[in-house]
Amino acid sequence: MLPFSHLSCLFLVLCCLSSAVQSNLELSSSIYEVLKCHGLPMGLLPKGVKNFTLDNSGKFEVHLDQACNAKFENELHYETNVSGTLSYGQIGELAGISAQDLFLWFPVKEIRVDIPSTGLIYFDVGVVSKQFSLSSFETPRDCTAVQLTDQIQDGKHILEAVSKSLSGKLRYQLDQGEFVRTVL
Ligand SMILES: *[C@@H]1O[C@H](CO)[C@@H](O)[C@H](O)[C@H]1NC(C)=O
Ligand SMILES: *[C@@H]1O[C@H](CO)[C@@H](O)[C@H](O)[C@H]1NC(C)=O
Repeated sequence: MLPFSHLSCLFLVLCCLSSAVQSNLELSSSIYEVLKCHGLPMGLLPKGVKNFTLDNSGKFEVHLDQACNAKFENELHYETNVSGTLSYGQIGELAGISAQDLFLWFPVKEIRVDIPSTGLIYFDVGVVSKQFSLSSFETPRDCTAVQLTDQIQDGKHILEAVSKSLSGKLRYQLDQGEFVRTVL
């Protein structure tokens, strides 16, 4: 006998598979259940989801009431439109979520969990990936209205600079390697 939550996931999967009942998906389930059925915690999206779309390939678009911040171990910022591609245990091509770190905001590009679960969740911001405890994302949080477009750009520029200097360093080491080989 399957626990109820598994049954409702099964139901959802059947809904996803059958385009004939695709229009029922939004009526019969919430985006939070969609996350859960992909092995992801419901609290990844805050309260205040107005509507969402999800296609058969896993591409989704979520519309929130307003751009807002929610407090976790680090603060997260959500834009009005959040989009990405869902697969089991992972959201790729993410747009519309930023994480605060060292007083800067970094756009999150990918979120994933380990399968089987290790109790950790990873936020990939491009050059680095940060890990948080999965349990803090169990339930959707309240989200306070905030706009912060400029600050997000700051974090993005710093990441690009770090990324450039890292690849610069790598090139330097490679050059050194070449040099050593030439000398030998
Ligand atoms: C969802 O909400 C957004 C923002 O209000 C609106 O532009 C969009 O048309 C809505 N989409 C659906 C499918 O209802
Ligand atoms: C969010 O999505 C809606 C519906 O697709 C669109 O009309 C609106 O311009 C988008 N808003 C932003 C800030 O991108």
